[in-house]
Amino acid sequence: MSLRAAVFASGRGSNFRVLVDHAARSRDAPHSWRVVLLVSDRDDAGALELARVREVPSVVIPVKGRAPDDVSSETLERLRAAEVDVVLLAGYLKLVPPAVVEAFRGRMLNIHPALLPSFGGKGMYGRHVHEAVLRSGARVTGPTVHLVDERYDRGPILAQWPVPVLPGDDPEAVARRVNEAEHHLYPAAADALARAVAEGRDPEPIPGSVSVAPDGAGPHFVLRPDAAP
Ligand code: GRF
Repeated sequence: MSLRAAVFASGRGSNFRVLVDHAARSRDAPHSWRVVLLVSDRDDAGALELARVREVPSVVIPVKGRAPDDVSSETLERLRAAEVDVVLLAGYLKLVPPAVVEAFRGRMLNIHPALLPSFGGKGMYGRHVHEAVLRSGARVTGPTVHLVDERYDRGPILAQWPVPVLPGDDPEAVARRVNEAEHHLYPAAADALARAVAEGRDPEPIPGSVSVAPDGAGPHFVLRPDAAP
């Protein structure tokens, strides 16, 4: 039986789109999963339009100006009603309420556009992350997928994908390169989570290795075949 995933997104939703399409393509694979709900805190999130086009049910749960307990109980109620097994945060800019983290401990992932534990934490989102990476002089960045706990960007790391920072890069160029890597890494990490949940165990870090691309574009993360989607 296929596991049921909810995706949380506040923004344009390119990771949401990739997750939905990957899950739909792999529906006959063992330990398949599907996206049954999009949750957003913003009614202008681009992800909502993508959900409409792909016929994924969505709900806007506003956070700003509301009592945290209200947000928490509404979120839990929606997740229970949709019989959600796993949660995938994909550009969700709010801290997930503690009761929701507790209810989905070990079954909730986040993707962050830098190599945690560097360049994470409160206020480190979007362009701010890539500006900080460029300011630091780091030559490598890349997305991280981790389990969600009560703190921003601090849960156990499951997978990372190194992406080069090239001479002349601006924050937009770095963001594009990282976003492209995210679209490969997040579906693979979600598959690994689904497999672990279906087998009743904790998800383990995804093994991988770094190699140089044939075009010399820089280091690329290669998932071992047994971890590949
Ligand atoms: C991604 O870079 C992700 O790492 C971060 O938010 C961004 C969301 O991008 N958490 P998109 O909305 O999925 O395009």
